[in-house]
Amino acid sequence: MTAPLVTRVSRADAAAIGDAVRCLKAGGLVAFPTETVYGLGADATDGRAIARLYEAKGRPAFNPLIAHVADLAVARALARFEAEAEKLAAAFWPGPLTLVLPKTAGCPVAELATAGLDSIAVRVPHHPVAQKILAAFGRPIVAPSANRSGHVSPTTAAHVLADLRNRIDLIVDGGSTPVGVESTIVACLGEPTLLRPGGLPRDDIERVLKRPLAEPPAGIVPEDDAPLAPGMLASHYAPRTPLRLDAKRIAPGEALLAFGPTLADGSENAARVLNLSQRGELIEAAANLFSHLRALDAAGAKSIAVMPIPHDGLGEAINDRLARAAAPR
Ligand code: TXA
Ligand code: MG
Repeated sequence: MTAPLVTRVSRADAAAIGDAVRCLKAGGLVAFPTETVYGLGADATDGRAIARLYEAKGRPAFNPLIAHVADLAVARALARFEAEAEKLAAAFWPGPLTLVLPKTAGCPVAELATAGLDSIAVRVPHHPVAQKILAAFGRPIVAPSANRSGHVSPTTAAHVLADLRNRIDLIVDGGSTPVGVESTIVACLGEPTLLRPGGLPRDDIERVLKRPLAEPPAGIVPEDDAPLAPGMLASHYAPRTPLRLDAKRIAPGEALLAFGPTLADGSENAARVLNLSQRGELIEAAANLFSHLRALDAAGAKSIAVMPIPHDGLGEAINDRLARAAAPR
């Protein structure tokens, strides 16, 4: 048993920034103010910390997260900027704009944070507290809005505490957030597309681009916890190899995505075996999910058999993603 978590709340002074950085380095969860809303931060390179973050928010699905970075130079290690993305970053960063861009080959952000996608959402926040934490931490921080899944985004430390008390390590209280709505999200994966209206007005963006932003296809209503990847943007990661869920027997030549200490019958003839968590631990399984799927997809097997995974806790989100990945396309 781990000790019960008690959420600390600290006024945003130098000691609190130091505490936040130590906590992030140890794989902890830290809520902090940005100019838009409070974010719930975790080390973007730490898959287990990110799995814990999804668990704390109670998200029933792994929706991709925004990687927050200190400046454009750090962002370039994560994402590829073409001409229009360069223009937007130059005009509006730091500030309430998130860009969805192609991931770089060496992107250090954990697969779970981008939910296995080849794109990544990146933002340079303007808020001095967010800036100080990012500069002192020196790595990207993923931060969804710091609310329980299905609730509205928090604009004060009290809102965060009401939703996440004793589910996260620390809340850095920097007062109420000045913008009060989430960042505007623009995908630059082709024609620049407005994925979520937010704190930066569309007109400002269009003035810089000298053309209108494309609209996501009709019927897509951006919601707090819905994936915002419409139409030509793949909404979720799907392997090319067919997936067979709840497999109790493995056919010869199948690849096996295992879970737990006891492998399914027939596993000795599998083309390749990867275990999400030998200990049967759901946090570890979530952290490994997308990277293991990618590795098995590359094994050239006729199908990937997936052993049953419990549905409790993070198991719900893991099973949700597996069901989507298995859906016929
Ligand atoms: O203002 C904000 O953006 C706040 C502060 C904390 O920075 N963060 C925030 O994060 O609102 P979140 O997770 O609540 O909303 C981010 C949205 C999600 O709906 C997610 O689906 C979408 O961004 N998103 C992230 N990565 C994406 C990607 N690669 N493609 C499409 N949508 C993406
Ligand atoms: Mg949110």
